[in-house]
Order: sequence, then C-alpha cells, then structure tokens
Amino acid sequence: MQKVVQKDFKTLSGEITIPSDKSISHRGIILGSLANGKSILKNFSNGQDPYSTMKIFKQLGVDIELKNESEVIIKSNGKLTAPSVDLDCGNSGTTMRLLSGVLAGQDFNSVLIGDTSLSKRPMKRVIEPLELMGAKIKSENFKAPLKIFGTELHPINYISKIASAQVKSCILLAGVNINRTTTFTEPYLSRNHTELMLKSMGAKISIDRTSVSIEKSELSPLNIEICGDISSAAFFIVAGLIVPNSKIILKNVGLNPTRAGIIEVVKQMGGRLTMLDERNVSGEIVGDIQVEYSELKGCEIKGEIIPRLIDEIPIIAVLATQAKGETRISNAQDLRNKESDRIRAVVTELKKLGADIEETPDGMIIRGKDLAGGVEVETYHDHRLAMSLYVARLVCQKEISINGFEWVDISFPNFEKLFTNLERK
Ligand code: S3P
Repeated sequence: MQKVVQKDFKTLSGEITIPSDKSISHRGIILGSLANGKSILKNFSNGQDPYSTMKIFKQLGVDIELKNESEVIIKSNGKLTAPSVDLDCGNSGTTMRLLSGVLAGQDFNSVLIGDTSLSKRPMKRVIEPLELMGAKIKSENFKAPLKIFGTELHPINYISKIASAQVKSCILLAGVNINRTTTFTEPYLSRNHTELMLKSMGAKISIDRTSVSIEKSELSPLNIEICGDISSAAFFIVAGLIVPNSKIILKNVGLNPTRAGIIEVVKQMGGRLTMLDERNVSGEIVGDIQVEYSELKGCEIKGEIIPRLIDEIPIIAVLATQAKGETRISNAQDLRNKESDRIRAVVTELKKLGADIEETPDGMIIRGKDLAGGVEVETYHDHRLAMSLYVARLVCQKEISINGFEWVDISFPNFEKLFTNLERK
C-alpha cells in the first residue's frame, strides 16, 4: 500500500493513550500458557505479532480466549501438546526465539516457520546455547524453518556475546523446566520483562546485575494489566518535539528503565519531557509523558544504553535530523538483524528525504538539516521504518509517498488514527 502524506496541520496538542506493550503481550501468552491455572491479561496488544504468539499456543493445545478485543483468558494445566501443523511465527522474531526455548525441552517435535523477512533472520543466537543444553534443532544455515526434536535438556552457564532479551528469555524459558540451575549472562542489561513476570509467578529465579539464574519451577497464573508500549510512544515523543508549538500528553506508557533509553537521550538532546503520575502497574513502572516542542542539540549514543533503546533508533535518527550539530550512534550493529537491516534502511531512506546522514558499520552519523521531501520512500516490510518515515514527513517541505505503509499493523494498527487525534489546524 502506498501512502501519500504531508503536514496539513499547524501543531500537535491534546492527549492520547498509548496502546499495549508488544513484548509484555508475547510473554503474557507464553508464561500464562506454562502456568497451572487461569491467567488474565488485560489490555492485550492488537498487533499482528502478539496474535501470532497467541495462535501458536492455541495450536499447542492451550485454551485461550480473546474477549472484547483486549482481554485474554488463558486456562492451562501448564502442559503443552504436540501441534498438528507447522507453527507460524509470521514476522515476529520474539515469537520464534522465545518459542524455541519453550519447545526444545518438550516430549514432542515441532516446526517453527516465519514470513520471508523472519526466514532471513539469524537464529544461531538461540540454536547455539540451546544445543549446549542438549537441544536437537535442525535448520539450514541457522535460519527458519527450525525443526525442533523435543528432548530432555540440561542446565548451562551461558555467557552471551550480545545483550539480547530474546536470547535471554529463550534460555530462561528452557531453564524453568530443568532441574538444577541455568545461568545466562549478557554484556549489558537488556529488557527484563521475562524476569519480572517469572518472579511474580513464583519461579525460582535470581538476578545479579547482568546475570540471571533459574531452576525448575511451578508457575502460578498471571493476572496483569499490560501497560502501553514505550516503543510505540516513541513516535509521538519525537513528533511532539519536532513540530513547533506542540504540547501533548501520552498516557499509560511503560517506563521500565531497561526500555526507557530514549527518554535519557531526548533529555540529553535538550528535549522537554515531563514524567507525570509515575506508578506501579502489575510489576512495571508506568507513567504519563508530557512532550513539548524543543530546540535540540546532537549527542552521542553508544554502549550500555543501546539495548535499552534498540527499537527506537530509527525514530531517534529522525529526531537527530532536527537537532543542531552531530548525533553519532555506535555499538548498534545488531540493528542490521532486525525486521530489516535498519542501519542501511534508515540511512538510505532519510537520505532520500534530504537528510545529512551517513552509515557506519555499527551505527550512523546524522547532522541536523532541513528535509526537502517530495520523494517516494520504502519501508522494507518493516513496521518501525514505516512509522519513522510517517513522522519524518512532519518536517519535510513537500509531501512524501511511503510504499508498504500497511506494515505498521505488525505492532500498531491504530497508529495513524491516534496521530490524527493530536493534529490541530
Ligand atoms: C524484544 C527484544 C529485542 C527487540 C525486539 C523485542 C523482546 O530484540 O529488538 O523488538 O521482546 O524480547 P533482541 O533481544 O534481539 O535485541
């Protein structure tokens, strides 16, 4: 779908509620299915990716009901049954990587498949540690389809070269079914939703900075209200900062520090963000964010903050085009393994809009400059690219045309509707 967009309003104002967190929604389905009893997930995501996870657990024999589009009821005895079909993860890397940890230790075989983009993404990062645990997984070149021959696993003490919540969660989900202790250590702390949820369910889990250990545990059911997704809020944060005279409030945003790197970066760039009504909701920190138009300056983004803002780098690049001076992003080489090669894709498409942006092996360098627009841009089947380009059009002199805009549905089907709610003529 081609979408022609231009800025035909003066400013952004008002408030919107940010929709449900995708990462927590996936984990709610997975952990609720592994628990013994009835779990309730309120404010479940309506993105296609969490729906892929939900469908798979139904195919694994779990009784899951979606009520009123956002409440999920899971009734499980904690056991999964052999699927009669290949399990389709669609576009979702989180589904495939977390599921491989769940399925490797079952007493049945299964096959994980995905769409064209997911079938190109690296699965070695989960296959390697799982094989060290005794898993039997067949693939071509460590890519999907993954044929998993369920078998008994044994614990490991794994030191990961990359900071990845998907790899960490995969190993924890395998480890929660194994006698004796499995330990996972990462170089920097990645998002910790799996750990928080496992702990709340009574799992025997202990955390020491970037190391987490788990042993065989019975899981009690979940009853949670899922907060809004900071990765979805990020597009509105940037829009509010770059459209002159804007003042908006984003309600119900998850502010878990392992996800909130973008807030630190925006503050460092001089952006005016105010956190309102910070509270604890189902074990996660949640707040409302007031965003005001700001004069921005470039900054350096590297090191331990990268995993805490990894999904926000495309939209941070858009922000940096509107900041005075240079913004340098490094240590983000794993961005090349996302739904698209996000370093190449962001640089190529923002350059088409007139940005002064340069690719580096592990990031990019952006120098603030007005954007001309007036061109067609591509989304590379990548939802975050589609939304970043939609926001970039707010500072383009001429309209732009976005090819493949429908990919936003992967994480944020109401994106455009919420946007128009804030536009003021
Ligand atoms: C996710 C972890 C991150 C992130 C992805 C969701 C998760 O991936 O990019 O969108 O829910 O665990 P990595 O663990 O590969 O960094």
